[in-house]
Amino acid sequence: MIELLNVKKSFGDKPIIKGVDIVMESSKCNLIIGSSGSGKTVLTKCIVGLFTPEEGHIKYDGQDIVSMPLEEKKELRQRIGMLFQGSALFDSMTVEQNVLFPLEMFSGKSYNERKKRADEVLARVNLLEAKNKYPAEISGGMKKRVGIARAIVLNPKYLFCDEPNSGLDPQTSLLIDKLIKEITVEYDMTTVVVTHDMNSVMEIGDHIIYMYQGQKQWEGSNKEIIYSDDKLLNDFIFASDFLQDAKKMRQIEDKRKGLAQ
Ligand SMILES: Nc1ncnc2c1ncn2[C@@H]1O[C@H](COP(=O)(O)OP(=O)(O)OP(=O)(O)O)[C@@H](O)[C@H]1O
Ligand SMILES: [Mg+2]
Repeated sequence: MIELLNVKKSFGDKPIIKGVDIVMESSKCNLIIGSSGSGKTVLTKCIVGLFTPEEGHIKYDGQDIVSMPLEEKKELRQRIGMLFQGSALFDSMTVEQNVLFPLEMFSGKSYNERKKRADEVLARVNLLEAKNKYPAEISGGMKKRVGIARAIVLNPKYLFCDEPNSGLDPQTSLLIDKLIKEITVEYDMTTVVVTHDMNSVMEIGDHIIYMYQGQKQWEGSNKEIIYSDDKLLNDFIFASDFLQDAKKMRQIEDKRKGLAQ
C-alpha cells in the first residue's frame, strides 16, 4: 500500500502539486490520469522519491519516503520496479542481458541463479524465444514486455508504469494492460500506471485518480467512472460524441443486466 498525505510540490513560487491525498492498495492497478500539465509526472516523481515534496508524507507500507534517510531510500528503491516511457532498453544488450542487468547490479545472486530468474520472468511475459535478440530486432509490444520483465525481475512490491501503451496499437495495448493487471494480482504488487489511454482506464482501472491542475479532482473505479457526474472528469474522459454515446449505452446495458449503480 502507498499512502499520500497532503503532498505539495512547487517549482520556484509556482505550486504544481497542491495538497494531494491518495491511498493506493496492493493487488490493484492504480491509474493516474489527467490532461497534459496537470501534474501526473511531477506527482509520480514525488512518489518514487525523485522529487522531495515541501509538505506532506508518502508512505510505503507505513515507511515515509519523504523523511527517510538516504540509505533506507536506496533500499526501498530496490523494491520499486519501473517501466519507463518508451521502454528505455539498452540497445547494445540482448533481451536477456537487459533483464539480467538489475540482477547483476542489485541481487547478489550467483550467475546460474541470475540466469534462472531471468528465464522465469521472460517466460512470464512470453518472450523466452526472443531472449538472444537485440531491442532493434523486436516489435514495440515486445519491447514493452521486456521492460515489464526487467521491472519485475527483482520481485518488487511496487510497480510504476509510465505510459505503458504509448506507440502501441489498441490490440497490443490491451495485451500489455492485461499482463500488467495479471502480474499485479499474481505478485500482490501496488501498481501505479500513468496513462492517457482510455482503453486502459476501462480495462484495468481498479482505482483511477483524475488529476486536474495539481489536485485530485476525482477518484473511483472503472465501474464508477461510467456513473460519475463530475463535469471536468466527463469532459476529459468522454471527450468525443462517440464516447459519450458509448457511456450511455453502457449505462443502459448495465441497467438491463441489473448492474447499474
Ligand atoms: N523540473 C521542473 N521545473 C519546473 N517546472 C516543472 C518541472 N517539471 C514539471 N514542471 C511543471 O509542472 C507542471 C506539471 O507537469 P507534469 O510534467 O507533471 O505534467 P503531466 O501531467 O505529466 O503532463 P503530460 O501529460 O504532458 O506528461 C507543468 O506546468 C510543468 O511545466
Ligand atoms: Mg507526464
